[in-house]
Amino acid sequence: MKRIAFDEETIARRVQQLGRDISTAYPDGDLLVLGLLKGSFIFLSDLVRQIERPLHVDFLVASSYGDATVSSGNVKLVYDPNTSLEGKHILLVEDIVDSGRTLQKLMDLLAERKPRSLAICALLNKNIATELHHPVRFTGFDAPHEFLVGYGLDHAEDFRHLPYVASLE
Ligand code: IMP
Ligand code: MG
Repeated sequence: MKRIAFDEETIARRVQQLGRDISTAYPDGDLLVLGLLKGSFIFLSDLVRQIERPLHVDFLVASSYGDATVSSGNVKLVYDPNTSLEGKHILLVEDIVDSGRTLQKLMDLLAERKPRSLAICALLNKNIATELHHPVRFTGFDAPHEFLVGYGLDHAEDFRHLPYVASLE
């Protein structure tokens, strides 16, 4: 571990504000919060408790295939919610936006299901996502260009449980 990038208190305060922003951004209609597993699981569970309007929660599990070492941009859904997305506000929740490749493919896939709206909420954004052609509507923090772990983010499945976000040596 090199240093703590975002501590527990800082995250809690930001997540509370995001919850308020999301509550006012969706004054009406059905809201489905879709968490992208596994990385978003802690962020999503804290976030939905700060949203003061009715909503449903579901999850997506995406897997990249093709090239084994580099994210190829070919994404398939390993778990796909049963719920219909048609006519609903869909908020896709991600841990961190890096190249944006995964999110771009997912957004294209989900857009085909005719949601009323489709938006991204990411805890962290490295702001280097050249492959993402959708805006990140709700961002927790601009992330430093380091490898980050904790609060859901992993390195080889380690560190997900840390209550803060830290950079790795
Ligand atoms: P992208 O498709 O290149 O934007 O990659 C996004 C995914 O890569 C995230 O959902 C994370 O699982 C992973 N990732 C990217 N950067 C980091 C990092 O700094 N720490 C941990 N995981 C990361
Ligand atoms: Mg991930």
